[in-house]
Amino acid sequence: MKFFIDSVDIDAIKEFNKSGMVDGVTTNPSIIAKSGRDFKEVIEEICSIVSGPVSAEVTATESSGMIEEGLFLNRIARNVAIKVPLTWEGLEACKNLSDQDIMVNVTLCFSAQQALLAGKAGATFISPFIGRLDDIGEEGMDLIRDIKTIYNNYPEIKTEILAASIRNIEHVKKAAIFGADIATLPPQVVRDLALHPLTDKGLEAFLNDWKSSGQKII
Ligand code: E4P
Repeated sequence: MKFFIDSVDIDAIKEFNKSGMVDGVTTNPSIIAKSGRDFKEVIEEICSIVSGPVSAEVTATESSGMIEEGLFLNRIARNVAIKVPLTWEGLEACKNLSDQDIMVNVTLCFSAQQALLAGKAGATFISPFIGRLDDIGEEGMDLIRDIKTIYNNYPEIKTEILAASIRNIEHVKKAAIFGADIATLPPQVVRDLALHPLTDKGLEAFLNDWKSSGQKII
């Protein structure tokens, strides 16, 4: 399973890159606004660190504007994936940009039917929003399972399933079990993935026993 970092936190991206945890990065207008960073500058900086896909979202609402913004963003670096919303305008932009060999991430997907459309429009990635479905009392993870089943039924669909709106490590485990190709993770969720109380307890016991042996490795 590939991990994308769902953040523009440069320190976190560099930190996780050292252990091979960064296969790409995703951003959205809310993440950019919250960071206070200049959109183009931060995308350029991330692309200088990460060679995998870096999603940058368009803000036009009509396909022509989305295509224009997408072409502009893709000129920042070839690994910029253009994020378009799952609307008919977004699907038209997706088809146009995909036909120009530009990676497209179709975002704000909340149903398997929408994911089918994105696949037909040639999306590189489909982003089902797990946490936001959980928030309204639905089982977000069912959507990953359904999209996986549908895409498996139609091998001509090459779109990768990018589990998004991930809130905790249970989401990551279930997305992996259901076969999501990628999970995009906030930095805290990445950190939490390595934690287990028995690991801490076991390490403490090993270190205490080692100390009592009086030995040194080097
Ligand atoms: C990533 O591509 C999405 O924009 C992001 O995961 C949305 O997460 P949220 O629902 O926590 O805002």
